[in-house]
Amino acid sequence: MEETRLDKKFISIKTALEKKSGKVSVRGWCYRERGSNAVRFIIMRDSTNIIQCVFDKEKVSEEMWEQSQKIKMEASFQVTGELSENSKAPTGYEIHVEELEIVGLSDTYPISKDFSPEFLLDNRHLWLRSRKMTSILKIRSTVFGAIDEYFKTNGFYEYHSPVLQSVQCEGGSTLFNVDFFGKKGVFLAQTWQLYAEPAIFALEKIYTIAPSFRAEKSKTSRHLCEYWHAEMEMAWSTFEDIQDHGEKLIKFIVATVLEKNSSELELLKRDINKLKPVVEKPFVRMTYSESLIILKEKCNIEIPWGKDLRTIEEDKLSSLYDVPIICTNYPKEVKAFYMMQDNEDPRTVLGVDFIAPEGYGEIIGGSQREHDIEKIKKNLLDSGEKPEEYEFYMDTRKYGSVPHGGFGLGVERVISWVCGLDNIKDAIPFPRTMLRWKP
Ligand code: 4AD
Ligand code: MG
Repeated sequence: MEETRLDKKFISIKTALEKKSGKVSVRGWCYRERGSNAVRFIIMRDSTNIIQCVFDKEKVSEEMWEQSQKIKMEASFQVTGELSENSKAPTGYEIHVEELEIVGLSDTYPISKDFSPEFLLDNRHLWLRSRKMTSILKIRSTVFGAIDEYFKTNGFYEYHSPVLQSVQCEGGSTLFNVDFFGKKGVFLAQTWQLYAEPAIFALEKIYTIAPSFRAEKSKTSRHLCEYWHAEMEMAWSTFEDIQDHGEKLIKFIVATVLEKNSSELELLKRDINKLKPVVEKPFVRMTYSESLIILKEKCNIEIPWGKDLRTIEEDKLSSLYDVPIICTNYPKEVKAFYMMQDNEDPRTVLGVDFIAPEGYGEIIGGSQREHDIEKIKKNLLDSGEKPEEYEFYMDTRKYGSVPHGGFGLGVERVISWVCGLDNIKDAIPFPRTMLRWKP
């Protein structure tokens, strides 16, 4: 009856499991169901956990028995009943149902036999309900919260750049063009950076978490066309400040996930002993030139000075350590136009990549910013860009320029690594890649 329904106080399955005994009302979806002529077991799930609901034909009304037969996988329903311990039940307790209400019946659920990655991506709108995706989404929520907390407690203002932009920042080849009322030269943001630098003259320390877009033609397990980008920019910074913030931020993210999401990490079978050193030990710092020596001596890989590190080399390097590597001073030619030339070694720039352990690749890219306008112009020309398009950016160097720098962290790269995922696509609810833009 409607009245009794309103009177009920529903608790989460997690709270019911903590309660251990007594009468409870819970609601959720059918995770699994099975039974015989005498008893029916329906495992209910909600956002917090699962619990077995038992329908005993002898004890329930004929009508309820009939109703219980209608509950198929993913039907939504609510029950009231007595809790009792049962070591054979999936979470150790079960509810002996006294009242049942079906809220929404379910058609035959499409996800039952085929668990191939492509099928699950085609049905992503439903697969989000799986325990795996639910766990990842909870960790994702923690990661976003931790990034926010880190910057807020360290005196950074949240600031927002436009998504529709008129300049490239990270190379023209990965720009998405937008049909902007028939005009050319409008792109989706690759980064907030060029529109963030002007704001440090107002706010000094700023951060954002926003989508970035890369028309990457790569089909690797690390690339998305749309990813969430946590970026910071800071006036008066030294290059070391930028590296230190990156290290502290990553430590804080991992520590927070370890603290808040132990059951999710367990469900994902993530070995947390691989994450603990990241919180406890200092990260490894080396220059690009030093990395070439290490690659040669320890991995037998020889790379001529000046060539960028590829995925395969980054993976080899990362396998040598249990913490991220902070690699600095890359050759000028392999890095972006805005990175500051190093006075001590002018072949290199004060650019930095953080390489995650266990082969998860680059999780942070950042730099000290060049403030010599002539050098910026030359770098732009060398990379085939028109400096006149960047006048607004160069203005920031004309009126009270200060040393500054910043970085960008790929949030899905970090989630993928922290969760130990095979593919970055599972780190975001609806992944967009070269081959996937639906549903
Ligand atoms: O190294 P990137 O290209 O650096 C920038 O965009 C700078 N403007 C950031 C800054 O200094 N404010 O990108 C930063 C990070 C990479 O380290 C990587 O973690 C992530 O963004 N990233 C991607 N993540 C998923 N899919 C892609 N296609 C990505 N491209 C970069
Ligand atoms: Mg990079």
